[in-house]
Amino acid sequence: MKIVEQIKQPIDYEMELFEQKFRLSMSSKVALLNRITHYIVNRKGKQMRPMFVFLVSKMVSNGEVSERTYRGASVIELIHTATLVHDDVVDDSNRRRGFFSINALWKNKIAVLIGDYLLSKGLLLSIDNNDFDLLKIISVAVKEMSEGELLQIEKARKLDITEDVYYEIIRQKTATLIAACCSLGAASVKPNSPEVDTMRKFGELIGMAFQIKDDLFDYGTTRIGKPTGIDIKEQKMTLPLINVLNNCSKKEHDWLINSIKNHNKNAKRVKEVIAFVKDHGGLDYAVTKMKQFQEEALQLLQDYPDSPYKSSLELMVNYVIDRKK
Ligand code: IPE
Ligand code: IPE
Ligand code: MG
Ligand code: MG
Repeated sequence: MKIVEQIKQPIDYEMELFEQKFRLSMSSKVALLNRITHYIVNRKGKQMRPMFVFLVSKMVSNGEVSERTYRGASVIELIHTATLVHDDVVDDSNRRRGFFSINALWKNKIAVLIGDYLLSKGLLLSIDNNDFDLLKIISVAVKEMSEGELLQIEKARKLDITEDVYYEIIRQKTATLIAACCSLGAASVKPNSPEVDTMRKFGELIGMAFQIKDDLFDYGTTRIGKPTGIDIKEQKMTLPLINVLNNCSKKEHDWLINSIKNHNKNAKRVKEVIAFVKDHGGLDYAVTKMKQFQEEALQLLQDYPDSPYKSSLELMVNYVIDRKK
């Protein structure tokens, strides 16, 4: 059995029902909106966030999920989708999930509005059902994601990012939403329990590993359904590059910064930078750090009694760093 099927086995029923609910949660009476949301749901992603919601919910409650859990999973996936649509505008990226991005097909104006629509649909789904405790968890994530993306832009302009600032960026832009998935999963069935916090922390750690992996893909040549090699083009400095900058000679440092500042659209030069980072151990360093976050996340699961849900979560933590897309 494939690893993803194995992970999903204890939540097969929930994920199937989730997909129906998620589809419905996007619908609109406006024809253009409906055409675009159809385009989006027919090109679904890995759906790792709803998987985290259901697995955590079932692990902390011996197999229970509620309507709140389903709604929470839909809200998170709606918000995730909204941020991807906006992110592709921000990053000027024309591919997503193996197809054209929304901005590539319908232009930026429409992509911005679609993202806003999906975000508001998500928030309303919580409000209309009085899930205010879950809405609070989600709203923190929404706020932090915008802050993270903006901090990243600020650092791309100044090119003065440090390793600690990098961690802060990825914590905000990516880890916070996965943290929300896990704490919401717990809160949906056990509100106000200490698990809500432990699972938040668990999600945050795995979210950090998740984004480091995503940044490593950018240095690779495997087809992952979205462009690779665009981070340097966008002057986005990620862990492999930061590490190499911190450990090379002044001359090499100046060459790297000059390349990113003034030659970032020159494909040949970008290739040279990528090769330099690889040759100087930048990728290995990022892998080591990614594994540290993975280990820390696994530690937090140790105290839970064995169950199929816990086993799936453990597999999921490993999948985050072994995945091929
Ligand atoms: C992509 O997330 C955005 C990041 C935080 C790196 P995913 O890799 O989970 O995207 P999909 O939903 O599977 O396309
Ligand atoms: C992650 O940002 C997406 C968000 C947090 C909105 P990236 O720009 O690094 O992700 P990809 O590689 O485009 O999916
Ligand atoms: Mg981005
Ligand atoms: Mg992007």
